[in-house]
Amino acid sequence: MSSDCKWQKKIDTILAQAGNRVDNVTGAISMPLYFSTAYRHEGLGKSTGYDYSRMTEPTRDVLEDVLAQLENGCKAFAVSSGMAAIQLVFTQFNTNDHIVVSDDLYGGSFRFFDLLEQHYHLRFSKWDGKDYAELDRLLADDAKAVWIETPSNPTMKVIDIDATAKHAHQVDAQLIVDNTFFTPLIQQPLNHGADIVVHSATKYLSGHNDLLAGVVICKDEATATEIGNNLITIGSNLAPFDSWLLIRSLKTLPLRLRKQEANAQAIVAALQKSDLVDSVRYPGRGGMVSVYVKDAVNVDQFLQHLQVISFAESLGGTESLVTVPAIQTHANLSEAERQRAGITNNLLRISCGIEDSDDLLRDLKQSLLAASDKVGVDHDGK
Ligand SMILES: Cc1ncc(COP(=O)(O)O)c(C=O)c1O
Repeated sequence: MSSDCKWQKKIDTILAQAGNRVDNVTGAISMPLYFSTAYRHEGLGKSTGYDYSRMTEPTRDVLEDVLAQLENGCKAFAVSSGMAAIQLVFTQFNTNDHIVVSDDLYGGSFRFFDLLEQHYHLRFSKWDGKDYAELDRLLADDAKAVWIETPSNPTMKVIDIDATAKHAHQVDAQLIVDNTFFTPLIQQPLNHGADIVVHSATKYLSGHNDLLAGVVICKDEATATEIGNNLITIGSNLAPFDSWLLIRSLKTLPLRLRKQEANAQAIVAALQKSDLVDSVRYPGRGGMVSVYVKDAVNVDQFLQHLQVISFAESLGGTESLVTVPAIQTHANLSEAERQRAGITNNLLRISCGIEDSDDLLRDLKQSLLAASDKVGVDHDGK
C-alpha cells in the first residue's frame, strides 16, 4: 500500500482530529481561534475567502465542516442556540404555510410555533408520530414540512424516520428532525430520508453544561444555499470562542456518550425494580431516562435530598441532571395538553452524566427513600 493513500476516516477519528492539520503555517494541533470580524483585501475583487465574520469565519468553518460530516449532510450551520437553529430553519417558510409537528416536542419549540402562528400566520397541526393515515390526511392540506423529535422529549416516544420521510416526500414536504437526544452517533436522520437535522448543541454535542449553541445540517445544496443566505441576513451565527469550545467538546463526544449510555442502562435496570417507581421510559439507547414515580414519593423532597444529581433544566452534560418537565421544560403547555402528552407532575427526566454509576444509583435510591412514606424499605424493594 502506498504511504499517501487516503481513506474515509471513522467518525471517532474525525472528531478527535477536529481542527488539527488546518493551520499549515504554525502546525497548531488545537484549532486556532480567529476573533477578527473583518478581513483585509489585496485589491478590488480579491479576497482570501474571508470578508466579514457574519458571512464566514475560519474557526466556525472548521466546526461546520465537522458537523456536516457527523450527520452526513452537505452543509452545516452553527448558530447561537438550539432555538436559533429552529428559527433559522423556519426562515424558509411563508405566511399560511402548513407544518405538521409531532405532538411531543421540547416545550420551547411549541412556544416558538405559537409565536409563528400568532404573529406570522403560519399554520401548525399536531401528529401522534404513529398514525400514518392521519399523517397523510394532514399532509394533504398543502403541508410544507413535518417536524419531529425522536425519541421525543420527555416521554421517549420513538418515530420511524424512514416511514415518515416516505410519507412527507409523497407531497414534496420536507422532513425535519431535531436529533438533540440521540446525537448522530446513535442516529443519522439524513441517512433515513430526512432533509434537515437540527440540534441544540447546548446538550450532548457540547456536553459540559457550559455552552449555548445550535446547529442546522442540510442534506441538499438547494436547501443549504437558501438557509445559508438567510443566516447571513439574520446573523445568529455562533461566535468564534463558542465555535472553538464546541470543536474542543466534540472531540470527546463518543467517550462521553458511551459512559452516559452505560449509566442510563444501569439506572433503568435499577429503577424498573423499584417499588417506588410506576414506570420507566427508555428508548434502548442514549443517556436520557424518564421515570414516573409513585404517589408515595414527594417529588420536592426527592429533589432536595439528591447529593450527586442536580435538579436543573438541561441535558447531555457530564454532570447528571434531573428535570421535572411539567414545571420546567413544558410549563408553557396547558394542563390539558400536558395530560394528553403524559407530562404529569410525577414524571422526572434524568440526563445521565459520566459519574460512577454506583454513586448515581445510590443517590437515586437514598433520595427516593427519603422522599417516600416507606421508611425502612429501600427502592429495590429489599
Ligand atoms: C430537543 C431540544 N431541542 C431544542 C432545544 C432548544 O435549545 P437551546 O436551549 O440550546 O436553545 C432544546 C432545549 O432544551 C431541546 O431539548
